[in-house]
Amino acid sequence: MHVTMIGTGYVGLVSGACFADFGNQVICVDKDAGKIDQLRQGKSPIFEPLLEALIARNVEGGRLSFSTEAGPAIRSADAVFIAVGTPSRRGDGFADLSFVYDAAREIAAELDGFTVIATKSTVPVGTGDEVDAIVRQLRPEGEFAVVSNPEFLREGAAIEDFKHPDRVVVGTEDERARRLMAELYRPLYINETPVLFTSRRTAELIKYAANAFLATKITFINEMAELCEKVGGNVQEVARGMGLDRRIGSKFLHAGPGFGGSCFPKDASALATIGQRHGAPMRIVETVIGVNNSRKAAMVQKIITACDGSVRGKRLAVLGLAFKPNTDDMREAPSLSILPVLAAEGAQICAYDPAATAEAHRLLPEITTAADPYACVDGADAVIILTEWDQFRALDLDRVKSALRKPLLVDLRNVYRPEEMAARGFTYVSIGRPDCKPA
Ligand SMILES: NC(=O)c1ccc[n+]([C@@H]2O[C@H](COP(=O)([O-])OP(=O)(O)OC[C@H]3O[C@@H](n4cnc5c(N)ncnc54)[C@H](O)[C@@H]3O)[C@@H](O)[C@H]2O)c1
Repeated sequence: MHVTMIGTGYVGLVSGACFADFGNQVICVDKDAGKIDQLRQGKSPIFEPLLEALIARNVEGGRLSFSTEAGPAIRSADAVFIAVGTPSRRGDGFADLSFVYDAAREIAAELDGFTVIATKSTVPVGTGDEVDAIVRQLRPEGEFAVVSNPEFLREGAAIEDFKHPDRVVVGTEDERARRLMAELYRPLYINETPVLFTSRRTAELIKYAANAFLATKITFINEMAELCEKVGGNVQEVARGMGLDRRIGSKFLHAGPGFGGSCFPKDASALATIGQRHGAPMRIVETVIGVNNSRKAAMVQKIITACDGSVRGKRLAVLGLAFKPNTDDMREAPSLSILPVLAAEGAQICAYDPAATAEAHRLLPEITTAADPYACVDGADAVIILTEWDQFRALDLDRVKSALRKPLLVDLRNVYRPEEMAARGFTYVSIGRPDCKPA
């Protein structure tokens, strides 16, 4: 099958490379010429484990190519996927759909023969109807079907998620489109992946419902962590005790500094606005957004308190800047709301992140960066773990301790065990667990 991706970002590039790996002919289109140049030189513009090798294999096999020219790619396609960004709109928090509608107009201009137009971007309910109307208006005789095919991959595990998803959701009432989408995802049947066919509107809703629910789960355990701190409980044990209940499940019950990333904040905000607009307020989601925002602010205070009430003139070593491990993505990362406030409070911040340093230079001009964790902690008054990269789980703690001016570790991801840190001579402050002083 001939597949075209409009938008070659985290979702478009991974989906395109995986569809090519399934044996399809795929063209990934992006209007960012720099991105396409890099890809043509065999380099991935994003950090995503195993992606560069997957791209190389499929380019070599003649199944995957990259272009800034949407026209020929659309004309040759059986299915065109819209995988452009849908960021939060300034002001009202609704999804900015301008990129989606621009893509729809470009597709309309080039349609040639029956084509499925599948929206992979996360879009508010009713967007498919609007895309349909835009294309229909420009091509009254055009043969096409607009389908919702929301994407659930996680950055950092994107290829695994795309190839072994928990489910695929396809929203369409068009029989031809349904057959084509079923054929495209046929390689997944081997793993018995459930493919859920729904109406277009229902598919659009599933994506927001899933993300808002996950954001709620995280926010719930974060509030439990706060209560644990007040009453002397241990949130990790609370989470385990809850999570072993199969009705609840253990995933997304890790307390931390508040959720960030390219999806949860903007999708929660969009869903809240959708609810308002349709007279069905999403009160739980609205609360989750408020609690999460105050959570990030509370993390600043937690760090200041750990530093004896002031960070002025102190050197803070920050480990991790990306919103989660195994990605360079810093969109809405907790580091972006926490570090500028600490810097404004007079802290000198040096950070290390295995993948996000380049992005951090752009987004956090007030901090410096180091080339490795040990250079980062050298001479610091405290270490703060902000992202739980694997390499921070196995630090040489004696080396860290001797490089620090004071052995203080603020662990916002609960990577270490409090007793162990105390035994190693650290003052250790974590989330939802009692603080520890050196033994
Ligand atoms: N990142 C994730 O983990 C993830 C997971 C599931 C769903 N989503 C959703 O997928 C969508 C895309 O997210 P992303 O993270 O891949 O975004 P991204 O910003 O990484 O990529 C979007 C790309 O689209 C390109 N683009 C925009 N308009 C274009 C046009 N008219 N023609 C060609 N290219 C165009 C941009 O240049 C950019 O490279 C969003 O709606 C997001 O909510 C993202």
